[in-house]
Amino acid sequence: MNTATSQQTSNRNSRKLVYGIGAIIIIFVIMQFVRFFIPEFALDNPPVTNTVAWDSPETEALWQTACADCHSNETVYPWYAYIAPVGWLVAHDTHEGRSKLNISDGSEIELREMIEVIEEGEMPLPIYIPMHPDANLTDSQRTALIDGLRATFGSTSTRDANTTTTNTETSGDDGDDDGD
Ligand code: HEC
Repeated sequence: MNTATSQQTSNRNSRKLVYGIGAIIIIFVIMQFVRFFIPEFALDNPPVTNTVAWDSPETEALWQTACADCHSNETVYPWYAYIAPVGWLVAHDTHEGRSKLNISDGSEIELREMIEVIEEGEMPLPIYIPMHPDANLTDSQRTALIDGLRATFGSTSTRDANTTTTNTETSGDDGDDDGD
């Protein structure tokens, strides 16, 4: 029989497997260095040039829990952020979040948008919740955060704060003019 040939084939196969695993390991190791060269994937914290005068420590704490990692330059990167490719996703979300809203750099703060995304459950980003269960705010925490953001940022963007009350919803209007 051809035991010799089948032995050769299996040798060749195991060599291929070893090479394959070696290649994957090498690629994985190279991936770990990408963040040092591509700014998009950097786990950075640019300097804080604007400090927020929070209305209360509670508001600040809620913000830190649910929003700060993606909307400030005081991001606390979790351990898995240091492992590519997961870290690329973390860095990407952080940079994109900061580009829309960053309380650390003096850029404009849209109070009305902040309130909207919290009310609609768009923020914090759902992908953030599994590894940050505390960021899954309860209804009362959400209300407290919104009130606190109003109190904190209301004066710097009054225009925004006021437009929330000009809601033209007419539910309950029975259409007659008896005054109720
Ligand atoms: C895991 C990262 C992450 C967290 C945590 C997070 N955000 Fe965001 N945020 C983003 C990203 C990414 C965007 C831009 C993409 C988008 O709008 O979905 C964004 C966009 C926004 C915008 C702009 C929306 C728009 O339509 O332009 C606001 C306002 C905002 N976030 C507020 C918040 C608030 C308030 C919290 C906390 C309750 C929060 N975010 C938590 C990542 C995050």
